[in-house]
Amino acid sequence: MRPHALMLAVVLLGNLTLPPASAQNAGFVKSPLSETKLTGDTFELYCEVVGNPIPEIQWWYAEVNRADSFKQLWDGARKRRVFINTASGTNEVSVLGITRLTLEDSGTYECRASNDPRRNDLRQNPAMTWIRAQATISVLQKPKISASDEIVLSMDTSIKPVILQCNLTASHTPHKESFWMKNGQEIPNTRTEQRTTVYRIPKPRADDSGEYLCVYTFDKAPNANATTEVKAKPDITGHKRSENKNEGENATLYCKSVGYPHPTWKWRKVDGTSYTDIDNSTGRFFIMDRDNYTELNILNLDINTDPGTYQCNATNTIGNNAQTTILRVRSHLAPLWPFLGVLAEIIILVVIIVVYEKRKRPDDIIDDDEPVGQMKTNSTNNHKDKNIRQRNTK
Ligand SMILES: *[C@@H]1O[C@H](CO)[C@@H](O)[C@H](O)[C@H]1NC(C)=O
Ligand SMILES: *[C@@H]1O[C@H](CO)[C@@H](O)[C@H](O)[C@H]1NC(C)=O
Ligand SMILES: *[C@@H]1O[C@H](CO)[C@@H](O)[C@H](O)[C@H]1NC(C)=O
Ligand SMILES: *[C@@H]1O[C@H](CO)[C@@H](O)[C@H](O)[C@H]1NC(C)=O
Ligand SMILES: *[C@@H]1O[C@H](CO)[C@@H](O)[C@H](O)[C@H]1NC(C)=O
Ligand SMILES: *[C@@H]1O[C@H](CO)[C@@H](O)[C@H](O)[C@H]1NC(C)=O
Repeated sequence: MRPHALMLAVVLLGNLTLPPASAQNAGFVKSPLSETKLTGDTFELYCEVVGNPIPEIQWWYAEVNRADSFKQLWDGARKRRVFINTASGTNEVSVLGITRLTLEDSGTYECRASNDPRRNDLRQNPAMTWIRAQATISVLQKPKISASDEIVLSMDTSIKPVILQCNLTASHTPHKESFWMKNGQEIPNTRTEQRTTVYRIPKPRADDSGEYLCVYTFDKAPNANATTEVKAKPDITGHKRSENKNEGENATLYCKSVGYPHPTWKWRKVDGTSYTDIDNSTGRFFIMDRDNYTELNILNLDINTDPGTYQCNATNTIGNNAQTTILRVRSHLAPLWPFLGVLAEIIILVVIIVVYEKRKRPDDIIDDDEPVGQMKTNSTNNHKDKNIRQRNTK
């Protein structure tokens, strides 16, 4: 027993004192990248490290031209403009971000990582126990652009052309060119090298409303832009005039709109001249709203309560607009009606033919010599009854 226990103790001690066989020094998988930013914007640096045991990551900062004096950065530093988020998966990942940038945030940012057990021992040289990756952040004064004020398109009165203008009044370096964007898409053929740029809408319609941006580009510096909102009341450009369904089926009504800002939608039922909110006590009504689209789904249609006129109403800060759809609900039996009609015609025809045939040839029936009394007691056949009556009247 004793030698065994001793061996076990040696194995246990060995495991405690020696690093595991798969131990691996810290190494960078992704290191932070240098960037140029504008005042007021945000930057994020990304650092990813492998190693076993999982390495610790720290962020350090040195001012421009002071690369000898690094200071450690903490989450919430610089009046809470600094944030550090670290997560462990198979690798250790850390993101350093700084918001509302100022010119003083320029400098060298360093990601340090280590899984060396002596890494926080002050007698050790950190250069031996930590690995480092650096990125340079340059913060430039945001260029000044004077742009047109918000414009509201009036769809009711005479249509006047709209002119949007931007003027680059101050910039860190001369700009290269400028262009216009609408709702996040570049407008083709608007590139120019002038300091002042103009975009004309000769005959504005509701779908010309939106978020317009003039963008100035620079050499080795981020684009600068200014926004002008062009607003218009919603215009409903697509809906069904009517929808015909069978009871028990589902119905889908929808409306599409143009006009910026995007509207809030409302569905109602038109009750003669008044409106009522949709009665969803049965839980069969579902509304799905997108920016410029709304859909009303009615499940398991009820022939008594669901038919009628439904209205979609789009409202934004400029005005509102509405459209209606008529919902018709047919009975389950409706598709059978043509068939039932044909069936009825066939039955009538057969009856007419039988009656006619039997009137034409009464002699054949006279051969029949069943007693009259028996016929009366158990016959359910009207035709035979009739024939008997005919015979009796002769
Ligand atoms: C653009 O800004 C510059 C500098 O402020 C000014 O001199 C110029 O007149 C402006 N141009 C227009 C078209 O407003
Ligand atoms: C416009 O400027 C803002 C602030 O600088 C920036 O975040 C955004 O990406 C720019 N947009 C474009 C399309 O350049
Ligand atoms: C109606 O919609 C519901 C839910 O989307 C679905 O489960 C059902 O099968 C649909 N009924 C018909 C007749 O399409
Ligand atoms: C509605 O918005 C989507 C995306 O926002 C856009 O692709 C689409 O063209 C718009 N439709 C209309 C009718 O404005
Ligand atoms: C109707 O009721 C169902 C079930 O309670 C619910 O899921 C749905 O969102 C409601 N629809 C509307 C338009 O309120
Ligand atoms: C649409 O809804 C708004 C707000 O509820 C209302 O003021 C407006 O009269 C409605 N528009 C139409 C055309 O019914």
